[in-house]
Amino acid sequence: MSTQLGTLEELPADYRRAMDEAGVAPLWPMMRNVLPHGAPNPVTKPSHWAYEAVRPLLIRAGELTPVEKAERRVLVLSDQGRGVGAMQATASIYLGLQLLLPGETAPAHVHTPSAVRIVVEGQGGYTVVDGEKLPMEEGDLVLTPGGEWHDHGHEGTEPVVWLDALDLPVFVYLEGSYATEGPLQPQRNRPDASEVEYRAAGLAPSRSAMRARRYPMMRYPWAKTEAALRAMAAHGESAELDFINPETGEDVLPTMGFTAMMMHAGEVAKPPLRSASSAFHVVQGRGHSRINGEKIEWGPKDTFTAPVFAQIDHYAEEESFLIRIHDRPLQDKLGYYEERVR
Ligand SMILES: [Fe+2]
Repeated sequence: MSTQLGTLEELPADYRRAMDEAGVAPLWPMMRNVLPHGAPNPVTKPSHWAYEAVRPLLIRAGELTPVEKAERRVLVLSDQGRGVGAMQATASIYLGLQLLLPGETAPAHVHTPSAVRIVVEGQGGYTVVDGEKLPMEEGDLVLTPGGEWHDHGHEGTEPVVWLDALDLPVFVYLEGSYATEGPLQPQRNRPDASEVEYRAAGLAPSRSAMRARRYPMMRYPWAKTEAALRAMAAHGESAELDFINPETGEDVLPTMGFTAMMMHAGEVAKPPLRSASSAFHVVQGRGHSRINGEKIEWGPKDTFTAPVFAQIDHYAEEESFLIRIHDRPLQDKLGYYEERVR
């Protein structure tokens, strides 16, 4: 049962003026905006960024703005519901496409928000996190968790582009977002943890020999992810794998989750309605998705988003690999993550 609540206009002008002067406002005219019935009323709209449209703009940014003047040379993917320039792809997720040219470095810094890079194209790029050098191959997932020093470099010959996903909007909302700058880090002369300590699922360094770091593995090589998805999909329909912390089994970051999925050509996926918002990055493949009835045609390296509780239908026209970026870990911690049967 829904009761019609009183409006501001119903109140006498002198009472409204007196409230203004006293610095107060009535809740009831605004109540349904912040507490709608049954489900949230998201500002976020399904949005799509075709890589072939954004790539030339990114390459041009490389000609127009030296990395020294940009620090991070990024084009921000703004949610259509908020308009171009919005630092949000969904309420809680920031997305940007970053370009690094051969020989360039992006200086070291540390900040409160956490970031993940998904490598879109190019070879020879790397990220250094807390002295560990993480090669960036196409499709790799590279973590730079909040509070960890990181810088980027490029030893290859062609442009390197990656997708940055950050929980920045959460930190901005909390008025908790800030960074500290520093010099480039010395790099330890050894391969990253995915190549040494965590080479195989189910095996971790002996507990007696080491104290696990909070983020023991910062790089999730795409080659391993793809092989695992293929093995799983060979025995069923679509395969989905969550990226997890190999020591704790928890999500890789406190606020953001990442799920890799494989769909066979011709396959349809109809996930439940989720309270989490999502961004999908197409590692390989082609298809289309209907998000709340809106058709998005996607190809390799594209990115698209879906608001909370969206009705999502994916159709893979070719064999496709997508990474879903979502805020389920944050919602889990706040105790309200929910899935609804369609
Ligand atoms: Fe950063």
